[in-house]
Amino acid sequence: MADKKNILITGGAGFIGSHVIRLFVNSYPDYQIYNLDSLTYAGNLENLKDLEGKQNYTFIKADITDQDLMHRVFNENGITDVIHLAAESHVDRSIADPTAFIYTNVIGTVNLLNAARKQWEGKLDQHLFYHVSTDEVYGSLDNGGYFLETTPYDPQSPYSASKASSDHFVRAFANTYKLRTVISNCSNNYGPNQFPEKLIPLCIHNIKHNKPLPVYGKGENVRDWLFVIDHARAIDVVFHKGKDNETYNIGGFNEWKNIDIVRTLCKVMDKKMGRPEGESEKLITFVKDRAGHDLRYAIDANKIMKELGWEPSLQFEEGLEKTVDWYLANEEWLQRVTSGAYQDYYDKQYS
Ligand SMILES: NC(=O)c1ccc[n+]([C@@H]2O[C@H](COP(=O)([O-])OP(=O)(O)OC[C@H]3O[C@@H](n4cnc5c(N)ncnc54)[C@H](O)[C@@H]3O)[C@@H](O)[C@H]2O)c1
Repeated sequence: MADKKNILITGGAGFIGSHVIRLFVNSYPDYQIYNLDSLTYAGNLENLKDLEGKQNYTFIKADITDQDLMHRVFNENGITDVIHLAAESHVDRSIADPTAFIYTNVIGTVNLLNAARKQWEGKLDQHLFYHVSTDEVYGSLDNGGYFLETTPYDPQSPYSASKASSDHFVRAFANTYKLRTVISNCSNNYGPNQFPEKLIPLCIHNIKHNKPLPVYGKGENVRDWLFVIDHARAIDVVFHKGKDNETYNIGGFNEWKNIDIVRTLCKVMDKKMGRPEGESEKLITFVKDRAGHDLRYAIDANKIMKELGWEPSLQFEEGLEKTVDWYLANEEWLQRVTSGAYQDYYDKQYS
């Protein structure tokens, strides 16, 4: 990789991206970090207020579906490496309307690959294109087994189909044009700054405000959960130590049924809110199952653990408690997200 790094991190105003940006800006003062984000409903620059004014941090408001703009961004900033997280990321939204998922997740990724290929022509071996993906590309497991890096792709939702497609394009660029790439596929993340349409922040918000807790089907679906800062740490390790054109699965060996997560959250919240034990559980409301709902995801993360020496730092119960504490201490953040007020921040800060 080139010595002086100008790293383009896409989707840095989102949930995971904001933790990755913070980690890189604070840990690597010699790297210039460019956070490129179009600020969709999921992009919240308030997540990164603490980085405003840092010498090695620049925000670029841009849409990855704009091919010409991507070429300009690479050229004007001398981008040396990419960590690509920008995506439409919510399965339910992809079921309601898949189109945005194809534009951003597939075409947007190809635009970035094209811009990287052009910018790095003649010195492809000195640069890295790191694509951040999901375990959902592997499809659904029954009650046994794990997803390995070699598990054939079998995406089941429009979201996972679009992510699978983008993974294939990244591999195709590595194979065809010899672009240096790496891909990681991670399990479900949780932690501070997650948009409250996803299970854990949604439940915390609704429990606090005594609103129903919608649980799909019987809540039997199993997911493997990882604290978002552990995912950011894994991305750091893969970026610096991952082998060329390899794939790394990232997960916590931490499987939970949705209903058990919701019940655990109810218990933690009862304690924190001083409610009688069992009070919040009364809010659980079973709703019609999501169309094509995958039963179980489970990641085998042995490769990254053994080859790159990464492992999760937090046990789930500890991470969940930290997450609840963060949401309770950041009521204003949650209110601004749920009211939409967070979207004014960019205009105030940057116009
Ligand atoms: N959340 C998870 O549990 C999880 C797990 C594994 C992998 N991932 C992957 O990690 C990445 C980040 O996920 P997240 O949960 O932080 O998502 P998120 O929805 O919170 O954030 C996505 C960010 O991308 C930006 N964005 C969307 N479309 C864009 C476009 N066309 N141009 C520029 N920016 C755009 C949004 O404004 C937002 O800031 C995604 O690629 C996702 O597939 C997520």
